[in-house]
Amino acid sequence: MKKTLIKNGTVVTATDVFNADILIENEKVKTIGRNISEKADSECDATGCYVFPGGIDAHTHLDLPFMGTFSSDDFETGTLAALHGGTTSIIDFAFQSKKKSLKEGLAAWHEKAKGKAVADYAFHMAVIDFNKETAKEIKELIQKEGVTSFKTFMAYKGAIMIDDQQMIALMNECKKWGGLVTVHAENGDLVDSLVQASREAGNLTPRYHALTRPEITESEATGRALDLAFSGNHPVYIVHMTCEGALNRVREATKRNQQVLVETCVQYLLLDDSLYDLPNFEGSKWVMSPPLRKKRDQEALWNGINQNLVHTVATDHCPFCMDQKKMGLQDFSKIPNGAPGIENRMELMFSEGVLKDRISLNQYVSINCTAPAKIFGLYPQKGTIAVGSDADLVIFDPKKKHVLSKDTQHMRCDYSSYEGWEVTGKVRSVFLRGTLAIDNGKALIGKGFGRYLPRKPFSQHNLI
Ligand code: URP
Ligand code: ZN
Ligand code: ZN
Repeated sequence: MKKTLIKNGTVVTATDVFNADILIENEKVKTIGRNISEKADSECDATGCYVFPGGIDAHTHLDLPFMGTFSSDDFETGTLAALHGGTTSIIDFAFQSKKKSLKEGLAAWHEKAKGKAVADYAFHMAVIDFNKETAKEIKELIQKEGVTSFKTFMAYKGAIMIDDQQMIALMNECKKWGGLVTVHAENGDLVDSLVQASREAGNLTPRYHALTRPEITESEATGRALDLAFSGNHPVYIVHMTCEGALNRVREATKRNQQVLVETCVQYLLLDDSLYDLPNFEGSKWVMSPPLRKKRDQEALWNGINQNLVHTVATDHCPFCMDQKKMGLQDFSKIPNGAPGIENRMELMFSEGVLKDRISLNQYVSINCTAPAKIFGLYPQKGTIAVGSDADLVIFDPKKKHVLSKDTQHMRCDYSSYEGWEVTGKVRSVFLRGTLAIDNGKALIGKGFGRYLPRKPFSQHNLI
């Protein structure tokens, strides 16, 4: 039996901060306590460091075929980059194809990940076409495949958008088996008409991506999704929320005692739409949907975390290299939507969130690790530091300064969304299921180490 002892660290969970040693036996945390004297095969001195649970990024797109190309990180490069940044598990989106079954979509994503993923991974199912046949698959996906959350797109009409009727039917079906519906909330029809008008007027630069997806397109769709969920008494999870208007819809919904779960992404907390004004097509780097918003929206989202209206922070990691972005050089609507970030989330949220007093250490662990694990049925195997949990641990040096750059990142992308940002706090070592995976920037495990994580059905009880 392999034993590792992590000594003298400051252990942080979603509820506590305390000094302790952690004894790992094989893949699990065996003991947490002061001055553990049990002999181990190896020791890791964490003096001066925090010990966080491994991060869970609940929103990634690896090897995604999208807008005429593929996201540039596959399951090997993307999960390795995640590990370097302290994220030990991801939940990626398996996509159904039009006229195909959910199971075929899921099988395709298993194929992409198998033998390649370095970190652990699970799948949400993106439902593109919900009909009587797909409805029959929901139960099996939840009970046999461990896929317990289902994404719907209220935008990208003609490609992946589903209509309200389908969303209602999906919510009803999910309710029977413990599935959680997650929603990309943008009004696709309104976006399309604004895009068409912009193109006709010859307004074709990246800035018009944001101008054709104004806040109201997101707040309207968010409100509509919440109303549909409320009418059937369904829980619902809104992905990548960006703005105050959408958050206010959630605030309103809570007044009627509706349960709403909300995710934002690190880029919406830290970046704003002035980036679209950069010259020479630079703005295309941040063409994503929904787009970056205003500084006041960032403030609203940080406050939303503190008001417990925003529960998780993910990345929506969906990188494209500049050559791919240039597919939209003459027309912003052809720029593949998405940006890199899987490697940066844990360090940025610490530096910009904890050190700037926007969130506490416990909130940091909650939004990055524990809440995604609870909401998506991975807790307590993942998302916390507890006896019996997987020994996914991040040894984090809170004082170490470094600069984010495309030249040092591990993500397969030829730019960084945060080029030149000075960050305080760095991932020093990462344990994945008890194995030292990253040590001082060096990867000690490789492709195929990552394991598929079947998830539990959604339940209110998971959230407590
Ligand atoms: O721009 C984005 N967000 N690309 C990825 C697909 C999605 O909507 O999540
Ligand atoms: Zn989306
Ligand atoms: Zn996404």
